[in-house]
Amino acid sequence: MKTVLITTVLLLGSTHALGGRGSSSSLALVAARSSETHPLHATDPITIWCAPDNPQVAIKSAQFVRTSDNQKFEAALSPTKKNATYTFGSPSVKDAGEYKCELDTPHGKINHKAYIYSRPVVHSHEHFTEHEGHEFHLESTGTTVEKGEPITLTCPVNGYPKPVVKWTKDGSPLALSKSVTMEGTTVKIESAEYTDAGTYSCEAVNEYSLHGKTSKMLLVVDKMVDVRSEFQWLYPLGVILITLFLLVCIIVTCEFRNKKSVSKV
Ligand SMILES: *[C@@H]1O[C@H](CO)[C@@H](O)[C@H](O)[C@H]1NC(C)=O
Repeated sequence: MKTVLITTVLLLGSTHALGGRGSSSSLALVAARSSETHPLHATDPITIWCAPDNPQVAIKSAQFVRTSDNQKFEAALSPTKKNATYTFGSPSVKDAGEYKCELDTPHGKINHKAYIYSRPVVHSHEHFTEHEGHEFHLESTGTTVEKGEPITLTCPVNGYPKPVVKWTKDGSPLALSKSVTMEGTTVKIESAEYTDAGTYSCEAVNEYSLHGKTSKMLLVVDKMVDVRSEFQWLYPLGVILITLFLLVCIIVTCEFRNKKSVSKV
């Protein structure tokens, strides 16, 4: 009984000794447009760090591994070997995410996490402009479709934690129906009606806590849709046909009059 108790105390003690702490930070972003070829960079460097809970434990070696792509980052140790750090000199939105930090100590390995948060940004090659100079409210050049054509509206946003996406149409929640459906964050309209024209807004939100303060970050992307008649191309043709018809009428009338005057003479 006594041995069991002692073992339990020892185990608890050692797990406590091998706990860790890790940093949470967020990218300082002043714009919201990013793409694979031109990832958006933050204005400030970021240092992620990890340390053993127990200040007596020195680190032998340490590395950070990004969860999303398993990329490894060799950590630097503080002079007292109590803190492992890695600094991104010019972090981009691609550096946001969860990092496993693996600390090797004389008492065993410590695995902990560090986080780099990023507010939602648009991640696309599409062209977007800022709506009335607002960095986090973007609009795309509008789409025009013919009545009966399908429409696909995407909301290509990135962020960490993964943003939650909601769509509105002309300021009200988008009404889904048999023809208007959602596939992930994409709106699909099977066959455009005139009533489908309007401003579609994608609202992407994520939330994170830093230093005890929770921030809710929003990005709005507007997409204008215009629906025109499927017979639009017929109108110029109609005008041409009517003109031709009138011309023929005029010619026939003139010929007729000519003949009449000739026969009189
Ligand atoms: C570890 O180092 C970073 C960067 O120098 C510092 O901000 C952080 O407070 C340190 N953490 C601990 C537990 O000492």
